Amino acid sequence: MKRIVVTGGAGFIGSNFVRYMLEAYPELEIVTFDKLTYAGNLDNLKDVDEARHTFIQGDIADKAAIKAAMEGCDAIANFAAGSHVDRSIMGADDFIATNVTGVYNICEAARELGTPRVLLVSTDEVYGSIDEGSFTEASPPRPGNPYSASKAGGELIALAHFNTFGTPIIITRGSNTYGPYQYPEKVLPLFVTNALDDEPLPLYSGGENNVRDWLYVEDHCRGIDTALRKGRPGEIYNIAGGNERRNMVLTRKILELTGKGEELIQFVKDRPGHDRRYSIDAAKLKALGWAPRMDWDEGMALTVRWYRDNEWWWRKIKTGEFLEYYRKQYHER
Ligand code: NAD
Ligand code: TYD
Repeated sequence: MKRIVVTGGAGFIGSNFVRYMLEAYPELEIVTFDKLTYAGNLDNLKDVDEARHTFIQGDIADKAAIKAAMEGCDAIANFAAGSHVDRSIMGADDFIATNVTGVYNICEAARELGTPRVLLVSTDEVYGSIDEGSFTEASPPRPGNPYSASKAGGELIALAHFNTFGTPIIITRGSNTYGPYQYPEKVLPLFVTNALDDEPLPLYSGGENNVRDWLYVEDHCRGIDTALRKGRPGEIYNIAGGNERRNMVLTRKILELTGKGEELIQFVKDRPGHDRRYSIDAAKLKALGWAPRMDWDEGMALTVRWYRDNEWWWRKIKTGEFLEYYRKQYHER
C-alpha cells in the first residue's frame, strides 16, 4: 500500500493510527480526512511527518467530498464516528449521519472508484452486554444504546454492500481503548484529569457492577493494521485487550497513580440502558498473527504519566464547549 485515507484521523484512535502507520511503513503516504467536530483536534497530529501526511477537513456524510479524497488511494480506514455513548443518549442525529450514512457513502465511493480495501473500525459494543463468557464474530449484534445501534447500522449496510457488490470491506470490533490523546469525556481521561485537579470522579451506579475490557491504543492500531493487510473482505475481526476490570478497579488504579484519595469518588446516578459487561474473543485475529502486547499496569502507568506531562493538550479542551457538556451531563445527576 502506497497511499491510504484515514477518516477521523484527528480523533483519539485515528491520530494514534496515523502516527503508528507512518512509523511502521516508511514509504506510506496518509491523507487524513476529518470534520473536526468537538472531538477532532489537530494538536493530536502535531508531531507527524508532514512530508507524508496531508490533512483535509471534510464530512463523510458529504459523499462528493469523501469520494474526492479517496480518489487514487489503495485503502481507506474509517475511524470517523460519533463515539460517546452519553452524548448519543442526549441526541443521536450526528451519530446516524456519520455512523450510518457516512459509512454508506464510504462504501459507495469505494465501489465507484474500485478502492482495493476498506477497513471499517467498529466496536465490541455492537454485541451488547454479556453476563458470562465472550462474544465471537458469529454472535448476533444486539446493541443497547443509540451509539452502538448506529455503529451496528453502519456495519450492516457495509456487510450488505459486500454481499451485493463485492465491495472489499473488512470490519474490526475493538474493546474499550485507552492511551494518549483521548478526549476527556470518556471515563479514563476524564477521571485522570479530574483527579489531577482534585475534582470529583463521577462514578455511575456504584462502580462494582460494570466491566470493560481495556485495550491499549497501540495494540488496537496494530490490530487494525493486521486486519487491513491480512483480513478477508466481508469478514469481521474482534480486537480484545484481555484486561477486564470493574469500573471501581479502574477508578482505584487512577487514584493510586495520581496519588489521590478515595474521597474524590462521587457516586452518581446510572447511565440509562447501561451495558453491564463487554467481553469478546479475539481468536480470529490472533490466527492472523496479532496479539496485544501491553500489560495493563504498565499501560495505565504510561497513560496517566502522559496526561500528567501534557496538560497543555487537555487544559485547552476542558473549557468552553466541554464545560457546557459537563454541566448538562453531570449537574443534578
Ligand atoms: P473520537 O471521538 O476521539 O474521534 C472521532 C473523530 O472522527 C474526530 O476526529 C471527529 O472530528 C471525526 N468525525 C466525527 N464525525 C465525522 C464526520 N462526519 N466526518 C469526518 N470526520 C468525523 O473517537 P475514537 O475514540 O478515536 O474512536 C474512533 C473509532 O473507533 C470510532 O469509529 C469508534 O466507534 C471506534 N472505537 C472506539 C473505541 C474507544 O474505546 N474509544 C473502542 C472501539 C471502537
Ligand atoms: P465510557 O468511557 O463512556 O465508555 P463506554 O460507555 O463506551 O464503555 O465509559 C466506560 C465505563 O465507565 C462505563 O461503564 C460507564 C462508566 N462511566 C462512569 O462511571 N462515569 C463517567 O463519568 C463516565 C463517562 C463513564
